[in-house]
Amino acid sequence: YDVEKPKADEKRRSVLKNQTYKAWARGCSPRRFDHVNIATSMDVQEILDYLGNQLGFKLREYVRYNNETTLAGWMSVTPLVHDIAVITRPQAKTPNQLHHISYWLDNAQDVLRAADILSEEGIKFIGPGKHGVSQALYLYVIDPGSGCRVELFSNSYLIFEPDWEPVEWTEEDHSIANTYWGDSVMDKEMNKPTIEA
Ligand SMILES: [Fe+2]
Repeated sequence: YDVEKPKADEKRRSVLKNQTYKAWARGCSPRRFDHVNIATSMDVQEILDYLGNQLGFKLREYVRYNNETTLAGWMSVTPLVHDIAVITRPQAKTPNQLHHISYWLDNAQDVLRAADILSEEGIKFIGPGKHGVSQALYLYVIDPGSGCRVELFSNSYLIFEPDWEPVEWTEEDHSIANTYWGDSVMDKEMNKPTIEA
């Protein structure tokens, strides 16, 4: 939050006092940043413990095999299911790498509209589909400008209970955790990802 907050040019400024720019000018118009996903070759549980014990993140959902190996965790300091996710990637070229950043769209229709826009531009994507974890609707696309994988994301649920019990997914239901329905995140590669899937 500790950044400069210049006013928008008058032509682009919203009449809404609580919004910087006029909305919906072009493109898929994400409303806000949602979360970041980190792929690591380190011990996922160790990173989750650090985020929890040192930075105050709460564990919301996780994937654990055989009651002992944590493959992924979703954590937040807000009511969102995750502000950050950590997933195992033994083949990662660096100990920790950005897997994707995620932008929130207001609703499922906006995600479908984004799919139309990407198709018109000839940009391949994965989705639409729905995650089991977080119950969110998704599209994944490699941003042609930065080479980063970006997730366009909507729906999901919110957590207000202070005594939330983290949800465990196991090897048996890992595939539903990833993809409840729709285009599987495991099935195919996007065009020329610069980050290993
Ligand atoms: Fe994500």
